[in-house]
Amino acid sequence: MYANTESQRPFTVPDLRRMKQAGTAIVVLTAYDASGAALLDAAGIDVALVGDSLGMVVQGARNTLSVSVEDIAYHTRAVRAGLKRALLMADLPFLSYATRARALRSAEVLIGAAGADMLKLEGGEPPMLAMIEFLAKREVPVCAHLGLTPQSVLRLGGYKVQGREQAAHEAIVAQAHAVAAAGAAALVLECVPDALAKEVTAAIDIPTIGIGAGVHCDGQVLVMHDMLGMACGRRPRFVKDFLSGTSGVRAAFEAYAQAVRERSFPGEEHSYA
Ligand code: KIV
Repeated sequence: MYANTESQRPFTVPDLRRMKQAGTAIVVLTAYDASGAALLDAAGIDVALVGDSLGMVVQGARNTLSVSVEDIAYHTRAVRAGLKRALLMADLPFLSYATRARALRSAEVLIGAAGADMLKLEGGEPPMLAMIEFLAKREVPVCAHLGLTPQSVLRLGGYKVQGREQAAHEAIVAQAHAVAAAGAAALVLECVPDALAKEVTAAIDIPTIGIGAGVHCDGQVLVMHDMLGMACGRRPRFVKDFLSGTSGVRAAFEAYAQAVRERSFPGEEHSYA
């Protein structure tokens, strides 16, 4: 029933684009340890993301800015140990790709030593486009991240929906084209209006993975603690608790994967206008 789970062959970077072309939704979930990763894999989720959200949900920090490459590497190694099929994407944390030398060192640690298959970095301004191109040309698969970029929280003044005003909308569309042209293999769109994500998804040939970006993205991602109802504080609009009403964590992961593939999640109540 689940696309891609009939075969146990590992999910690869080229599968991301193949799924977009086939119109099959890509299911992504964050993971931070081997047990969560094994359950996620068994539930048929396509991509495990070791997000720098670990700073908040695992370490209890107020934002993601204190997360180090070593933190991401520690959790990436643990997640790698739990996976059989899912692709392993890891975040490049704050300032770990501020220079080419730092980005190469981070890639060496996260891909070479810790076992990630792909790295995610935030932003679509010219320096970031150059960095995407630099890494992609050195065989580092890159996922870009636009819209609400949590590493910009100090400049943004909080976690707010992005791209509502015309100029900001146009900037995100232009940056989406630019990150694809620079060589990104996928694009996370976070907290942007549904219509903007729909426009970007139709306009570029790399898959978009949405979080708070509506149902028209090529795939969806959630933070594991959020979708299990474990996160403290105010629950963002885009989060659904998939654990309540199910028999356990694996069933919650399966329910999430099914809802993403059927495109019944996110609903309008989880999206922004
Ligand atoms: O750090 C993270 O978990 C992320 C997702 C929210 C996309 O970047």
